[in-house]
Parts: sequence; C-alpha cells; structure tokens
Amino acid sequence: MKMSVRLAGLEFASPVLAASGTWEFGLRFADVSNQLGGIVTKGITLEPRAGNPPPRIAECPGGIINSVGLENPGLATFVGHFLPRIGRLRCRVIVNVAGSRPGEYAELVERLAHPRVDAFELNVSCPNVREGGTAFGASPAAVERITRLCRRRTKKPLIVKLTANFVDPAETARAAEAGGADAVTVLNTLFGLALGPEGRPFLGGRTGGVSGPCLKPFALYCVDRVAPAIGIPVVACGGVMNGADAADFLSAGARLVQVGSASLADPQAPGRVARELATFCRARRLRDWDDLVGRTRREN
Ligand SMILES: Cc1cc2nc3c(=O)[nH]c(=O)nc-3n(C[C@H](O)[C@H](O)[C@H](O)COP(=O)(O)O)c2cc1C
Repeated sequence: MKMSVRLAGLEFASPVLAASGTWEFGLRFADVSNQLGGIVTKGITLEPRAGNPPPRIAECPGGIINSVGLENPGLATFVGHFLPRIGRLRCRVIVNVAGSRPGEYAELVERLAHPRVDAFELNVSCPNVREGGTAFGASPAAVERITRLCRRRTKKPLIVKLTANFVDPAETARAAEAGGADAVTVLNTLFGLALGPEGRPFLGGRTGGVSGPCLKPFALYCVDRVAPAIGIPVVACGGVMNGADAADFLSAGARLVQVGSASLADPQAPGRVARELATFCRARRLRDWDDLVGRTRREN
C-alpha cells in the first residue's frame, strides 16, 4: 500500500506529521523530519515572544503539563533565518501561527506567502497566552471570523487547530469550515494545573496545557465526534506514541496524525510512528487509506 495521502490538494508522503511546539522548526533532527509527511512549526507570532518564566514543564501521570507561553523568534527572524533552512527539508512544511487579535492571524498568513510554506495551522487554541488563544478557540464566532480573515489573504490551505477547553470542538469545527478552512486539527492541549508541595502553582505561567498519552482517549473521542460533523478532513493530535495509536486516530476518522510530546522523550518517535503505521497497514493487507480512515463508524 502507498503511504502517501492527499489533503487540501497537497500530497503528503506519509500521514504522520510532527506537531507544533514539540519539533521546533524541524531542523535539529532533519533526517527524522524527512521521514515524515510534514512538520508543523512552533507557533509564530508577529513579534518575538520570550514566553513564560520557568519552570515550564511539570510531569503528571501519563503526560506533561507545559506552560511554554508561545516563546518564538517572531515573524521577521522566522522568515529571514529559519525559513530558508526549513525550505531544504524534503517534507511538507506547515507553519503554525498565533495572534492576540484576529487581524494578526491574517497579517501573518499574508506575510508568509513564501513558496516553501505549504499550508498554515491557525492556533486559535493555545491555552497559555492570556490575551489571545483561549477566548478565540472557545468561541465559534471568533473561530469563523479568524478563518475568514485569513482565507481572504492567502490561497494556501488553512488548517484550524481546535481546543476542547470549555467548548464543543464539533461546533468550532463547523465554524472553521464555514469560514473557509481546508481542515481542522483536533486537538490542542487541555487546561491543567500542577501544584508544588506547599499548594503553590508549580509552573512559572501558573497554569498549563496537558499533553501526552493521558490525552489520547479524549482526543480520540473528539476526532470521532468532529469528523462526521464536518465536510473537511481532520488532522488528529493527542497522545500518539506508536503506530497503533496513529491507526486508532485514522480509524476514528482522521486523515493525518501528529506526534507531539512523544518527540520530547524520544526524538526518533515521529519517524518510528510512521514506520510502525506502515507495518500495521501491510500486516492487514490494506489497499488504500479509505480502508482504514473512518472505519470505526462505517463498521460499527
Ligand atoms: C512543549 C509544548 C509546546 C507546544 N507548543 C505549541 C504551539 O506553539 N502551537 C500549537 O498549536 N500547539 C502547541 N503545542 C501543542 C501540541 O502541538 C499538541 O497539540 C499537544 O501537545 C497534544 O499532542 P501530544 O499529546 O502528542 O503532545 C505544544 C505542546 C507542547 C508539549
């Protein structure tokens, strides 16, 4: 079976991508990036951001809670310094963008009209930035508005990355579709709080976002809920550790799958997930993706 898959008019050599924020700009382990369908960059904002004070990561059973706070070099350094090097990767490049105003998203996608940027992931869901993400991602109207503004400023595919923090992602997925999105990513981190021994918040940013294997059952539930609610494809994300996890998300209705926190523990993880998924498909003699994608609802 061919491992390549099409989404929003783009051919991906594998359905496995590296998730935003856990793979920087794909350069540190370029050989692994080149084994994937694509990479999603760290979230880029118009201006550089220093992020939250340390500590930024707390462990929890089956996962981590991060409060990185969208640290990134900002648009100008990204375009001038990183993008030329990212452009040499042999996989698809999806740039994750975030803003504290709807117009910022539109400005970012317009100014990133670079031939090596294949698509955008709109992070309307980052839970760490008080002035922005959460409020947008929790409001279907805001999600639709941001998507529509971006749609007017770029012809490149738009993938809206959804949250489930205090909102039904099926509703925001429909709003993203109405605004002109080509796909949605389900799911960003869930709110979390880690306390130190004296009951004080442990993380420098006070609260954070939960990710890792503990997120998988909920993320899978959300993919199963969102996929039949919309007519555009779903990109899954949440607790993928191995090829069987990736196959679960495809069965639940996703077309592509992202590997996030697993890469923080083992940088070879995304490549391994891609290989394990290929082995999984060969062992079951699947002929094409449609044999796997969405079979949970088709067959049950
Ligand atoms: C340290 C860290 C930084 C992250 N930064 C971003 C980011 O900049 N933009 C974004 O959309 N998601 C970001 N995420 C969320 C991940 O892309 C992913 O949605 C989430 O971690 C769930 O997937 P996982 O369980 O495989 O890690 C970040 C996650 C972690 C752990």
